[in-house]
Amino acid sequence: MSNPSEAELIHRFKGISFTTRSSPELLKSLDSFDAREDDVLLVSYPKSGTHWLAGVITKLYNTQVILTSPIEFGDISKLEELNKLSSKRIIPTHLDYNMLPPNFKNKKCKMIYISRNPKDTAVSMYHYYRDNPNLPTIDTWTAFLDLFLKGDVVCGSWFDHFLSWEEHANDKNILFLFYEDMKKDLPKIVKQISLFLGLNVSDNDIQDICRKSSFSEMKSDTEKENNDPSHTVCALTSNRKLIFRKGAVGDWKNHFTPKQNRRFEEIFNEKMKLSKM
Ligand code: A3P
Repeated sequence: MSNPSEAELIHRFKGISFTTRSSPELLKSLDSFDAREDDVLLVSYPKSGTHWLAGVITKLYNTQVILTSPIEFGDISKLEELNKLSSKRIIPTHLDYNMLPPNFKNKKCKMIYISRNPKDTAVSMYHYYRDNPNLPTIDTWTAFLDLFLKGDVVCGSWFDHFLSWEEHANDKNILFLFYEDMKKDLPKIVKQISLFLGLNVSDNDIQDICRKSSFSEMKSDTEKENNDPSHTVCALTSNRKLIFRKGAVGDWKNHFTPKQNRRFEEIFNEKMKLSKM
């Protein structure tokens, strides 16, 4: 069987590329989505550590919570299903701030944004594109990097995504996190998340959550599970092995040539001129 064409896999909505698994009808309806005050949003650009953070957050609750698939993913009936859930909802999303359903903003829902060095994010996304039949075929790293820098990948430009959220980094209902900080001192970040969510979690439990959320633990849990798509936050693959690849900081050094690095830095400095971080 031949590979599906790019048009079968990708469509554009408000100038941003989405996979055809995010139906245009659903994307149009997001503006009227009914948020609940106690919803928690887990926000990220793809490949920034979404599954890791989701693993941590769900372990922090000792009450019933449900981790949904990303809000922008599925067809229109998915929004109905979300409405029917009776448990507290942890809702992942890769949407930029401007596209977020306004109800989440009006109701001041708690939102946790996780960001990662965009060079490592690009490398992680490159491997994900290569190994995932639900994404367009990519010939080389060089070709992918070009698309990434142009923002011509699913979920659009890393820079636009980051900047749209960074503007709200100091909003009281938003917690801004970095993948690299989680790698450096996970217990500290888990404590920070628990305080933000208003949860009373003992130091012992935090240590336990950190042990269960290590890369090796999460990867080996995956290998024990069957391939149930409802188990992936990303929902673009039923193969969770694609998610847990290396889990390292600085893998970009194994991919970028010095010239690619210079070009990346130039574009980064230009695009991030207005960033405070
Ligand atoms: P790599 O491809 O660099 O290995 P997302 O969940 O947003 O799709 O991000 C996936 C990236 O997070 C992958 O990066 C994956 O290995 C990494 N990751 C997942 N779980 C992790 C963990 N427990 N510790 C560190 N990194 C993790």
